[in-house]
Amino acid sequence: MLQPPPSSTPPLSSHDKFEQLIEGMLENSYGVCDDFLDPTLVKRLKVRLQTLHNTQEMKAAGTGRKTGFRESAEIRGDVIHWLEAGVDVADNELLSLLQAFVSHLNQTCFAGINAQEFHFALYPTGSRYQRHLDQFKSDTGRIFSLVLYLNDAWQETDGGQLRVYPSKHPEGLDIFPQGGRAVFFRSDQLEHEVIPSLERERMSITGWFKKR
Ligand code: OGA
Ligand code: MN
Repeated sequence: MLQPPPSSTPPLSSHDKFEQLIEGMLENSYGVCDDFLDPTLVKRLKVRLQTLHNTQEMKAAGTGRKTGFRESAEIRGDVIHWLEAGVDVADNELLSLLQAFVSHLNQTCFAGINAQEFHFALYPTGSRYQRHLDQFKSDTGRIFSLVLYLNDAWQETDGGQLRVYPSKHPEGLDIFPQGGRAVFFRSDQLEHEVIPSLERERMSITGWFKKR
């Protein structure tokens, strides 16, 4: 019988991926997990984002402050679309994975998460999101942030990195938005920014696990 070729690194289970993100957050203020999303799901979610973009369902993102559009775009230049359950099969598949992560967080960390909100995001070439914290001063509901990338073969020369500022590295550390990669951190503690990409659009799904 034909055996599949031995793979050098067997894929991690969801449980191990969740643990990797949580351990990274506890030890270094942020966790990174490559191939958090399998390549087929990345592709389907990317097609979904592109469809939403083509049908003008991606809208300019605000910053939670009452500022004019011009100032907002300087702070944050992405367009977004919020995910909802029951609309699309790929979205639903992602939402059930996120629900499994919530259960894991609540069981292992007693996190008490009881809500979540996630959006697709597209950063046109050259757009940024200036350094910020995800938790609003007026609303402390956002507990954990999770960013998932949907870009094929992203190169460092493409720019567009997420720059995080953990207290151990005040100069900032760069994480590139490679498809399938997940980044996880506490919404009230880790400052971060999105550096403009140079010649490509940058696609992601970002969201928050919340306590209401
Ligand atoms: C955000 C954010 C980071 C990224 O949407 O709040 O910081 O890498 N996104 O897209
Ligand atoms: Mn953010």
